[in-house]
Amino acid sequence: MENLDWKNIGFGYRDSDYNVRCYYREGKWGELEISTSNQISIHIGATCLHYGQESFEGLKAYKGKDGKIRVFRIEDNALRMQASARGILMQELPVEIFKEAVFKTIKLNKHFVPPYESGASLYIRPLLIGTGPQIGVKPATEYLFMVFVMPVGPYFKEGFKPTDYVIYREYDRAAPLGTGNIKVGGNYAASMKAGVRAHNEGYSAVLYLDAREKKYLDECGPANFFGIKGNTYVTPKSESILPSITNKSLRQLALDMGMTVEERKVPVEELAEFSEAGACGTAAVLSPVRSVVDADLNKRYFYGDEPGPVCVKLYNKLIDIQYGCEPDPHGWVTIVE
Ligand code: PLP
Ligand code: COI
Repeated sequence: MENLDWKNIGFGYRDSDYNVRCYYREGKWGELEISTSNQISIHIGATCLHYGQESFEGLKAYKGKDGKIRVFRIEDNALRMQASARGILMQELPVEIFKEAVFKTIKLNKHFVPPYESGASLYIRPLLIGTGPQIGVKPATEYLFMVFVMPVGPYFKEGFKPTDYVIYREYDRAAPLGTGNIKVGGNYAASMKAGVRAHNEGYSAVLYLDAREKKYLDECGPANFFGIKGNTYVTPKSESILPSITNKSLRQLALDMGMTVEERKVPVEELAEFSEAGACGTAAVLSPVRSVVDADLNKRYFYGDEPGPVCVKLYNKLIDIQYGCEPDPHGWVTIVE
């Protein structure tokens, strides 16, 4: 690990030494198993392969100045994975098994947690898949839960630098009453075509509109969206976006800073009224938006080449809590002992 260039690792898959697995068979979850292999062997009829019975999570562990490793809001990820499981009829994983597996995986791979000074972190990827075979469209009777980790830098290679986002009306990532509000693989498959086009055209991500009317903002490909209007933090309320734990945290921090928070339908035209905008998520952290280009209407909403003052304040507050540089008044952080 010593020769990893921590400051420039970017966001991508890397092997670590160990992963942790737990099988659901014959109506019960088994013991956690430790593996050194990055391979799994599954039935050719597994429902995750055919019918998308798959959910994943993303959270991070941070090494503080004090050398301690902290994880952020782990319980929220465990609960969201349960919601995802209910949404596509997979076996729900108890919160305690989720937490134990995450802590175990971090501890086994602790030398992969980047040093404080690098600004990088350890990305944790819990994964739940249907492994039992079905050929009719039915839920599996067997499941596999896994956790693996890797050191990562910023999701958008620019890091905390404003970048451009794009609106295309010809793609949806999720249907209004579909699975957009849970974290299942199908949503990401549905977002790839538009996402790759956006990258090829020089944008960080797509800013999706609501699929029903194309009138309101939904979210950015892999992150939620917010705008700043005067002293107000405005973020879309929608049945088809993922309830982002980062967004929930930023809303609380905005309130703590004396701002007003509005979670409501946000008409596309309101993009013209924001002084700043941002994308937020575990991987994206807070990524300031330089501009949103409405590709269909040939319009550009511009927010600035440098991060705005509210984004700077929210970003610093968030990462200072995550790295343990500031008190954690809301109890978001757990130290990995
Ligand atoms: N929206 C989508 C579609 C995501 O994949 C993610 C990432 O998890 C987010 C939003 C941000 O959620 P969180 O802040 O919980 O990571
Ligand atoms: C995350 O922020 O953890 C995500 O899951 C986003 C992306 C990597 C899919």
